[in-house]
Amino acid sequence: MLGTPLLDAEKIRNDFPILQTQVNGKPLIYFDNGATTQKPQSVLDAILHYYTQHNSNIHRGVHSLSQKATEQYEQARATVQKHIKAASPNEIIFTRGTTESINLVAHSFGSFIFEGDEIIISAMEHHSNILPWQVLCQQKKAHLKIIPIQASATLCLDTFKTLVSEKTKLIALTQVSNTTGVVNEIEHIIRIAKQKNIPVLIDGAQAVPHIAVDVQKLDCDFYCFSGHKIYAPTGIGVLYAKQNWVEKLSPYQTGGGIIKTVSFEHTEYVSGALKFEAGTPNIEGAIGLAAALNYVNQIGMHAIFLYESRLLQYATEKLRAIPEVLLYGDVPHKAAVLSFNIKNNHPFDVGTLLDRQGVAVRTGHHCTQPLMQCLGVPGTIRASFSFYNTLQEVDFFVTALKKAIKMLS
Ligand code: ALA
Repeated sequence: MLGTPLLDAEKIRNDFPILQTQVNGKPLIYFDNGATTQKPQSVLDAILHYYTQHNSNIHRGVHSLSQKATEQYEQARATVQKHIKAASPNEIIFTRGTTESINLVAHSFGSFIFEGDEIIISAMEHHSNILPWQVLCQQKKAHLKIIPIQASATLCLDTFKTLVSEKTKLIALTQVSNTTGVVNEIEHIIRIAKQKNIPVLIDGAQAVPHIAVDVQKLDCDFYCFSGHKIYAPTGIGVLYAKQNWVEKLSPYQTGGGIIKTVSFEHTEYVSGALKFEAGTPNIEGAIGLAAALNYVNQIGMHAIFLYESRLLQYATEKLRAIPEVLLYGDVPHKAAVLSFNIKNNHPFDVGTLLDRQGVAVRTGHHCTQPLMQCLGVPGTIRASFSFYNTLQEVDFFVTALKKAIKMLS
């Protein structure tokens, strides 16, 4: 399988100007894709084209430029809809990113939460899928229930089943752990939730760049992701909300662009996704996101998944062979993320020595301090891959890591 060409990474790399740069005098090896991905030229061009040809405010002007910008923005919504296979563009709400998407739901869905209710999350959530629920539970005197993880850093599904009760009002879970890359069995969890009529929110920030997502098949109520992790600019993200929730939830923020009529006595809001997009939105971000989705779809999400799985498998085998390496979440169902430590060394020191050799990885708690507590470590080193990474880069990384280990011993 290692010899089968799934995609031409070398050719793809030419689409990403930043990959040609050097860091600390060494060719950049960018293995921090879990934090943010690099942008292909087509995304940069789409943004430049928008600003040089169509820049205007949207949904406000009768003039041609405004109509053109509105058309592009709404076309971007339709592109997102198709990419995650939502039933309607009205179910696609543009936000600043996953964090804002989750906060929006916590705020607006929060009016359905009452004293004594329960919300279930897991021990492997990113802080952005913990804090909004912690705050909501504190405000409403509701309870946050946590699905624990087992030694393999996977969810303990037997405990999950015991946590679900009449009091459960929402389950909010990540599809892929940003720290370990472990892919959760969300299909199974959603099925159990649906049997009991419990809404489910999925944090898809680390799933969307690696896996084809079909929100209708998943049957989740909410699905959140960030543009910048899937080759789009920062500051744009998506909240998918099932049509019934789009209608039932009240706006997160109020202001221009979301109303039918305003008077001092009564205000009527528009229906659909626009109800949640008060103020001038991130127009170029939405256009950039659509360009990024078109780019990955040209390569194909299936090819991306297979190629990245091969990179992951190759890197995992190499790391398993180094006696000083401790791997976390080394299980079969994973996205292209490797989390590890070097025995008796702080992740920060290892990360610094890798950086000196041109290798960018993330070190620390990865905004998952509760998970770190479960694993019993202050932090890890995380190498997260993209389809523009190569087996040769993995080889270089492994050599650089061995050098770092030698220097630290
Ligand atoms: N959430 C991003 C990460 O995991 C920033 O690195």
